[in-house]
Amino acid sequence: ARKVILDCDPGHDDAISIIIAASKMSNLEILGITTVAGNVEVQKNTTNALKVKDLLGLDVPVVQGAERPLVRKSEIATEIHGDSGMDGPVLPNPKSRVDDGHAVDFIVEQILQSEGKVTLVPTGPLTNIALALHKAPEIKHKIEEIVLMGGGTFGNWTPAAEFNIYVDAEAAKFVFESGIHVTMFGLDVTHQVIATKDIQQRLSKVDNRVGKFVSELLVFFGDMYEDHFGFEGGPIHDACTTMYLLKPELFDFKHVHLAVETKGEFTYGATAVDLLGVTGRIPNTHFAYQVDQEAFWDLFEAVLESYGEV
Ligand code: BDR
Ligand code: CA
Repeated sequence: ARKVILDCDPGHDDAISIIIAASKMSNLEILGITTVAGNVEVQKNTTNALKVKDLLGLDVPVVQGAERPLVRKSEIATEIHGDSGMDGPVLPNPKSRVDDGHAVDFIVEQILQSEGKVTLVPTGPLTNIALALHKAPEIKHKIEEIVLMGGGTFGNWTPAAEFNIYVDAEAAKFVFESGIHVTMFGLDVTHQVIATKDIQQRLSKVDNRVGKFVSELLVFFGDMYEDHFGFEGGPIHDACTTMYLLKPELFDFKHVHLAVETKGEFTYGATAVDLLGVTGRIPNTHFAYQVDQEAFWDLFEAVLESYGEV
């Protein structure tokens, strides 16, 4: 089994990403779930992670991380995720408790302790990952891959910047420049997996509690996306990371150089993706640009079905 740490800010699509990683269909060993300030305050993201852990009956540590970005003030996305960060479904208050310690130390320790390499799966701002790499650069050679959701050739938070990168562009810059194998799922590809009303309808037929939870997430998330962007449903951005880990062939990639903008007046947090190779710089990113939508939804439905009858 491939060892992963899910670093997230759940978050509707973060929750879905956890569900995929934890399913029987996946061959992943989840070392832990770490949380970061992002969609809402880190404490709320942690509570949501614990709720998802309880729903799935998962036996993995949940460790809380950074409360704020490295340099900038926090920004949150309640207009997309609601006040709780995961509005829509009503889950009981978590029975599980958050584990002691800080996510950054947890990430460093897990990587150093692990016999083999570890894959990091960040689906929120990259603050924890940057702090871990800064604190213990020796972990670099034991990180197999960073599979992240963020960025793209257009923005959703500003015209130029995607939310996860915008919230902590300094952290993102540090991660993309780290020399680690980065596989990136940005808006160019995540907007190809929109949970439209048809998809919502289809998934609502999955008759188990995980399917029900996901359906409720998608209804709320879809309505927010419709109000905010005029979309027909919500793109399940973060799910691309763990779907890729289940089945890499779902996606097509270009190996490109990518730079994170940290200075621009109108472009702070943008990712400059060198698709045509105009910079001549050495590629640092495996940029996902296309997904097989039919195969994606088929597999996703099978993942939900794999949770069984209850
Ligand atoms: C990203 O921002 C968050 O709102 C989502 O969970 C996703 O990680 C999309 O821009
Ligand atoms: Ca997220």
